[in-house]
Amino acid sequence: MAGIEGRVIVVSGAGGGLGREYALLLAQEGARVVVNDLGGAKDGSGAGTAMADQVVAEIRAAGGEAVASYDSVATAEGSARIIATALEAYGAVHGVVNNAGILRDASFAKITEQEWDAVLQVHLYGGFHLTRAAWPHLREQGFGRIVMATSTSGLYGNFGQCNYGSAKMGLVGLMNTLALEGARYDVRVNAVAPMAATRMTEDVAPQDVLESLPPAFVSPVVAQLLSEECQDTGAIYVVGGGLVQRHALFQNKGVRFAEPPSVAEVAQRWAEIASLDEIAPGVNPVG
Ligand code: NAI
Repeated sequence: MAGIEGRVIVVSGAGGGLGREYALLLAQEGARVVVNDLGGAKDGSGAGTAMADQVVAEIRAAGGEAVASYDSVATAEGSARIIATALEAYGAVHGVVNNAGILRDASFAKITEQEWDAVLQVHLYGGFHLTRAAWPHLREQGFGRIVMATSTSGLYGNFGQCNYGSAKMGLVGLMNTLALEGARYDVRVNAVAPMAATRMTEDVAPQDVLESLPPAFVSPVVAQLLSEECQDTGAIYVVGGGLVQRHALFQNKGVRFAEPPSVAEVAQRWAEIASLDEIAPGVNPVG
């Protein structure tokens, strides 16, 4: 099998924005797509079937294969039903794009526990539940491709998005471990930090910036990460407006002390310890 042709790929949050774009392109490339969307508002309130149905109709009208799923990724039961939809419709699941998301922006000084929880539930718990429901099937068939939607708000921080940034970095942590645990089953797990004009970003950037960020610049990279040929795992790509960049964590060359240093000795070497002039790849020293 080449590329993603014939693959069964579940895209969460595919009723609009980036997820819709992913679903349309994946179907165009020959994948059979589960278009999952809860169909609610940007803040996660409400629900409905129209968003997912609309994208499925578009795919079918273009001659592609797709089926709708209206469950929430935020619970184990909802995610199990989404994967069951793939199995019932197409008898398999090969790929998962953990794309569903909501926003409840608030500064750390003002954020409520409810705003924190709601965002973690959809992004981080959603990624956990949906991936966990697919995982045994991927392992058993010895093939799987997973894409996490992360964000520069997590990688670099963003004012007013402590909940969202934490959830998005949580997905990177999940990816790092799943990349290790999935490797011998040819289950590859990567992350994309997209930048695109959608309802999520419509009021956070000026119009001319948004016009330079059509979601169509992101979807081909997601398709590549879902392909059989792509052997990468545990990598993060920042993608938007025509630019595709790999993002990575590094450590500097470091300072080694033969004996436990005094506080003064640490202070004395601090400029060298903190310097990023000489870098080495960041690896887990104990794992
Ligand atoms: P969007 O709001 O257009 O799409 C998110 C979709 O997820 C919506 O269709 C929504 O109905 C669905 N959804 C929400 N909660 C759900 C749940 N519990 N279960 C199933 N579906 C649910 O936003 P956009 O921009 O397309 O975002 C897609 C992903 O990309 C999100 O994870 C977002 O955090 C991420 N992202 C987007 C960026 C951008 O520039 N647009 C920047 C960085 C990350």
